[in-house]
Amino acid sequence: MAVLRPQAFDRIADEPVGVAILGATGSVGQRFVQLLAHHPWMEVRALCASEGRGERAYGDTVAWAQDTPIPALSAALRLRDPGQLDPKETPLVFSALPGSLAGPIETALAQRGFWVVSNAASHRMDANVPLLVPEVNRAHLELLRAQPGPGAILNGPNCSTAGLVLALAPLAQRFGLATVLVTTLQAHSGAGLPGVLGPLANRNVLPRIEGEEDKLETEPRKILGALSNGQVEPLEFAISAMCNRVDVLDGHTECVSVGLQREASFEQIQQAWSQLPGLDLPSAPKHPARYLADPQSPNPVQHKNLDHGMSVVIGQLRPCPVLDWKFTLLSHNTLRGAAGGAILIAEIAIRNGLKG
Ligand SMILES: NC(=O)c1ccc[n+]([C@@H]2O[C@H](COP(=O)([O-])OP(=O)(O)OC[C@H]3O[C@@H](n4cnc5c(N)ncnc54)[C@H](OP(=O)(O)O)[C@@H]3O)[C@@H](O)[C@H]2O)c1
Repeated sequence: MAVLRPQAFDRIADEPVGVAILGATGSVGQRFVQLLAHHPWMEVRALCASEGRGERAYGDTVAWAQDTPIPALSAALRLRDPGQLDPKETPLVFSALPGSLAGPIETALAQRGFWVVSNAASHRMDANVPLLVPEVNRAHLELLRAQPGPGAILNGPNCSTAGLVLALAPLAQRFGLATVLVTTLQAHSGAGLPGVLGPLANRNVLPRIEGEEDKLETEPRKILGALSNGQVEPLEFAISAMCNRVDVLDGHTECVSVGLQREASFEQIQQAWSQLPGLDLPSAPKHPARYLADPQSPNPVQHKNLDHGMSVVIGQLRPCPVLDWKFTLLSHNTLRGAAGGAILIAEIAIRNGLKG
């Protein structure tokens, strides 16, 4: 059976696409609810959380932790089990489930005809699942042709991968990548709700985030890879990641050193970033890779919400005595790195995704 593009995707000019959110009470799920409240093309019609919450109204059970009030329409929705969702009512499903649970639930929904856009890790490296950062690899939507249908699974990357890839893509394209060393300083909200707890959580740096380094060492190679005969050939370059949890609320910082295949000057690198084009989509930033020359840029307190948290903010570009160049980047983990990035994927799927 082929992947069927929901008819609702062709009718956005007339009515919004109905959306369901899995894991709607969590750190990422709440961001989906917040960001979709006024979306021009999509409308939240169903919310799901863990079984223990029963069918309570979302607003009565969620421990809302966002900086805007709970949208009234979502607050009134009664939580549902994913089995009760109807692809006619909500052809699009955003998944913010824990990776340990998401795989079979997302597969079952795709088999029932839903288009699932996931933030979970379960399907990211599946050969027929596009792992998307739309400004970089929207051509990978072609992978959907290899999915069994009638619905589809599309994935967003790990929260640290999203920002890293936006910074690496222009360098890979113009100068070729040979080696990447990246050290992350990841915020509390990246650990989900209720966050990192215990005596070591505050005013501290925790040098291990389970499973994170592997994601950062594999996902960028898939995203930066080229399509060949309907498959993605991962880009060949050496990448090593070290991931740390730091006492910051939101916004992942990454210290990056790169070795390039061709010589590049300071100006050429800055120009490569500034020329990464934005997309004409509701959630897309005009400049997805922004360089700030200020001596304290980028930092989470001042820059995490720049461009609504959807661009990667880069600074501190300087020669690296070991590789070629080094720099620091910041990207918002629950916006570009999760819910905002997934909404952008849905927008490109609605606009461009596999028409026939
Ligand atoms: N946080 C980030 O910055 C970030 C970034 C990129 C990707 N991700 C990925 O996004 C996903 C969600 O992350 P998060 O940080 O939002 O996690 P979270 O705060 O722990 O939220 C998890 C959500 O899943 C629900 N859930 C838990 N067990 C369930 C079950 N057995 N059945 C159905 N629903 C269940 C929870 O519902 P209850 O509240 O009812 O328990 C909650 O809504 C994860 O796969 C994560 O790796 C997170």
